[in-house]
Parts: sequence; structure tokens; C-alpha cells
Amino acid sequence: MPVLRHDIELPATIPNLLLEKHASFLLSYGTDKDEYIYCMTEHIRMSGMYWGLTALDLMGKLEQINKNVVLEFIAQCQTESGGIAANLQHDPHILYTLSAIQILCIYDALDTIDIEKVVKYVKERQQPDGSFTGDIWGEVDMRFSFCAVATLSLLNRLDAIDVDKAVEFVMKCMNFDGGFGSKPGAESHAGMIYCAIGLLSITGNLHLIDVDQLSWWLCERQLSSGGLNGRPEKLPDVCYSWWVLSALTILGRLHWVNKEQLVKFVLACQDTESGGFSDRPGDVADPFHTLFGLTALSLLNTDYPLKKINPTYCMPEYVIQRLHLKPSRLD
Ligand code: FPP
Repeated sequence: MPVLRHDIELPATIPNLLLEKHASFLLSYGTDKDEYIYCMTEHIRMSGMYWGLTALDLMGKLEQINKNVVLEFIAQCQTESGGIAANLQHDPHILYTLSAIQILCIYDALDTIDIEKVVKYVKERQQPDGSFTGDIWGEVDMRFSFCAVATLSLLNRLDAIDVDKAVEFVMKCMNFDGGFGSKPGAESHAGMIYCAIGLLSITGNLHLIDVDQLSWWLCERQLSSGGLNGRPEKLPDVCYSWWVLSALTILGRLHWVNKEQLVKFVLACQDTESGGFSDRPGDVADPFHTLFGLTALSLLNTDYPLKKINPTYCMPEYVIQRLHLKPSRLD
């Protein structure tokens, strides 16, 4: 009889946190523009930059990046519509617009692009039911609601959209199990729960959810290996250490997961030779999982020398404080 494998086995030896290796992994990522993986990730470059730069900032290594090159790239990716594209000559999208704004906030350089046009682009994405499309082609997904609200709040321009309608749509994505899906009726997914809780935290609407029911669903994502999955019956993945933990932190229920076991899982996902984190022990490392490995360790208040991450914006806490933003959190 086949037996389904729902978890992984941790290696016998768990490495310590290899900060220097992670920094050099990120700093060298993309230096060879002909590399296969660099070409294959061309369409998500702006988010890739946000993942890498945020991870470097958490490790105190941001100054090793040439800031002007980054700022110039972002300015060139802003299109006539006001939206920002993932790369030069690509179409703008709300996902990459948020990533670009996050980078500009980290660098305290919002004045290097046309902000009024960004606001207009995001505003134009809102639909009569309060939802948001990702771009002009009309795909609706609740993650775009988070991107819109996060972007405008970072710009202090939430007045440009109908926030009540945006919240109404997000609440229509809530399921019987307390979780949230990508649209009304869609399966609960930890990534979508981060988006919903993040949006409710920014707009001061956390009272609309059943905190204990949702937190129970979230902490049930922890498996025997210590890792977290994003939905029942899925394998653990380091990125869910972010999507689940950030939501539990906002809900004041971080202590509902086994911290010690999760830290072991996260540390086991490091590439001990080349640096970086992968989704699971032994897989290939990448900047996306490297950011979320580090943000998990930051949220878990480990003794490692990492800056604090803000659970709502997935940006260093000092940046959120500099912007005077106060996303709500429950005790
Ligand atoms: C998992 O997707 C993750 C999500 C659905 C959440 C995505 C959230 C955003 C894009 C908002 C911006 C994010 C940040 C950090 C500021 P997946 O397609 O990998 O899911 P799978 O594991 O089920 O394949």
C-alpha cells in the first residue's frame, strides 16, 4: 500500500546561521547575466531585488549594494501608466509596483519616481466590488488587494481608494475554517492569509476575524520536522515560516508554534557551501527563500544578529517607524 509522505526528515547535523555566506550568495546573485537562472527570473526581477535587498538589510549588509544603480533601474521600470514593471520593457503590474515602492522606502528615496502616477495606477486597479486587478488585463486575486493597500499606505495615500470596499472584498474571501483564499470560495492558503491579515492590520480591521479559529488553522501548519506548510497535506517550505509566522505575530499567537523545532528546520534549509536558503533541506537555494528564512529567524526573536522585521510589510522595522506607520497588532 503506498504511504503518502507529508513531511521531511531533518539532517542529523543542523548548521549554525551562516550570515557571511548568505551575504555573499546574495551579493553575487545575478553578477553573471548570462547564467541560466538569471535569464529565467527576468520576469520577476523587481521582486527579486526587493527580496535580496531586504535580506541584506536585515543582515546589516545593505551598504555593499550600489544604491544608485538600483534607484536608476526602478525609475526606468516606471511606465507611462504610472505602474512599475518587473524589468525594462516589461508591462507594469501591481506586484512589482509594491516591490519597487518597498525598495524606495528602504532607501528613503520615494522622490526618485513619479509618486502621483503610482497612486493613479493603483487607484485604477480597484473594481466596483472593492477587489483589485493585478494589471490592465483584469486578473483579480486577493493578493493584489494587499499589494494595493500596502503600496498606498507606504505612500500615505490610502485616501485614493475605497478602503471599506477593499476590506469588504477581503472578508468575502474568508472561509468556514477561518482562513482566506485568493477569491471568494477559493481554498484557504497561508500566503493568502498573510495578505488578508496584512491588509486588515494596515486598515485597522483585525476585529473582523475569529482570531482563535484562524490561529488554530495556522499553527496546525507545523509538522513534526518543525517546518510549516501552506495548506493541509503539503510538504513544509521555508517561505511558510514567513506567511504563517507573520500572520500569527500580528494575531498575537506566535507562541502557538514550537519555536525551537522551527528554528532547527529553518537552519537545516541553508546551503552550507554556497550560502542562501532553499525551500527544504538539500534543495537549491534562491533569494526568495533566503529572505523568508532570515525573516522567520527575525520574527522568532532568536539571538542571531538580525534586524527586526515588520510582520505586516515584510520590511525592516526601522523603515516602518521612519515612515510613522502603525499597522495594528493584537496582544
Ligand atoms: C505563496 O504562493 C504565497 C502567496 C500566495 C502570497 C503572496 C503575497 C504577495 C505577493 C504579497 C507581497 C508579499 C510580500 C512579502 C510583501 P505560491 O504560489 O508559492 O503557493 P504554493 O506554495 O501553494 O505554490
